Amino acid sequence: MERTKIVDVLQRTDYGTVVNVKGWVRTRRGSKAVNFIALNDGSTIKNIQIVVDVEKFDDAIIKDITTGACISVDGELVQSQGKGQSVELQCRNIEILGVCGADYPLQKKGHTMEFLREHANLRMRTNTFGAVFRIRHNMAMAIHCYFHEHGFFYLNTPIITASDCEGAGQMFQVTTKNLYDLKKDEDGKIDYSDDFFGKQASLTVSGQLEGELGATALGAIYTFGPTFRAENSNTPRHLAEFWMIEPEVAFNDITDNMNLAEDFIKYCIRWALDNCADDLEFLNQFVDKQLIERLHFVLEHDFVRLAYTEGIKILEEAVQNGHKFEFPVYWGADLASEHERYLVEQHFKRPVILTDYPKEIKAFYMKMNDDNKTVRAMDVLFPQIGEIIGGSEREADYDKLMGRIEELNIPMKDMWWYLETRKWGSCPHSGFGLGFERLILFVTGMQNIRDVIPFPRTPKNAEF
Ligand code: 4AD
Ligand code: MG
Repeated sequence: MERTKIVDVLQRTDYGTVVNVKGWVRTRRGSKAVNFIALNDGSTIKNIQIVVDVEKFDDAIIKDITTGACISVDGELVQSQGKGQSVELQCRNIEILGVCGADYPLQKKGHTMEFLREHANLRMRTNTFGAVFRIRHNMAMAIHCYFHEHGFFYLNTPIITASDCEGAGQMFQVTTKNLYDLKKDEDGKIDYSDDFFGKQASLTVSGQLEGELGATALGAIYTFGPTFRAENSNTPRHLAEFWMIEPEVAFNDITDNMNLAEDFIKYCIRWALDNCADDLEFLNQFVDKQLIERLHFVLEHDFVRLAYTEGIKILEEAVQNGHKFEFPVYWGADLASEHERYLVEQHFKRPVILTDYPKEIKAFYMKMNDDNKTVRAMDVLFPQIGEIIGGSEREADYDKLMGRIEELNIPMKDMWWYLETRKWGSCPHSGFGLGFERLILFVTGMQNIRDVIPFPRTPKNAEF
């Protein structure tokens, strides 16, 4: 008999029909005469209840229906008497596909997130992680739909690259050689000419520079791909391997860029509320009791838009009024997540887009303001998260961009392909990067970024 997914069985009302379901046993309980199996196949957070007349089945089979076992059941669809479920299956036939011993780590009881992280190979089978990864899938769909509907083209930018977009020196090197085997020049610098690419190559920290080439040809593009940063930050907001979405749009200025960011992120949140109701309700009940309320709140309010200088004034006032921050606040300081979250959670009580940061703390490609001190950067700051988006209007003027490149000592010869966009038909343009996992953190209410990516990569952790 053809298998039906549990998500579909739960919608059906053709009582009396026999269907086949396959899945993993969550629990089996009951008396000597009647057993109730809660079965889950991952298609929904909901289990289907299977009612078993124990005497009709072999003892050996019943004994093997343990938590975690994989079974196939033919059962008659019947209206359920139980609370919270509309249908159940009256069992006709059971086959054990895979037994599961008592040493299975996910026996039914509340597990800590740390415990489940140690069992990341199995944790997708729990309700919490099932919900998180179904929502993660839905957010990817929302992102592609948003950009497709708005006339953006999906551009695949390289994962292996020779340029450091953010200039922060956080790149993982890609080489086929043992670095000690590569020659060194007179100054002791490694000579990569013998290596696979003939030059130093790394994993990308951002697809933006290549994205700008796309935007200045196709008008509006977005990237959505894996991104790598060798940041040694063991925080609940940083991964060494994460996914980033980077739209880039010709003719957009910083205001258009802010409008795009706000509209885009609200679309994703609305998508989650419309398409992930069961999973969100579960997370709202067991992970974060304010989750759904917070999602609605963000949808219903305009984001605050504020210059960095004004943000610093608010933070300085907070310090004067006795608020203690771990890191110092002064004009020119890079904001830590405690500062970002103060502005969002305590001062404005809604998302904030902070703009016009000091040029010293931002990347070389951002458009300079007339004050020659600040650049047209914009960071979107979210409750619970801090920075969720970083973006800017780009410097479109060749000479000004060259000036920044020289000031920062960025090797010119490596940037020729980028600079040509400013030489031939340069245009104003803007874009931003959204950290996919930070969006998932916000939408699921989870606390740690390691718990919203199936296989987290963090310092000292690349197990499987
Ligand atoms: O602010 P960032 O570094 O900006 C860029 O990379 C630009 N090139 C984007 C652009 O304008 N096209 O990173 C963008 C976002 C951050 O706001 C954050 O959400 C996420 O990427 N992010 C990380 N997420 C998880 N782990 C990390 N180590 C991250 N670093 C950045
Ligand atoms: Mg940033």
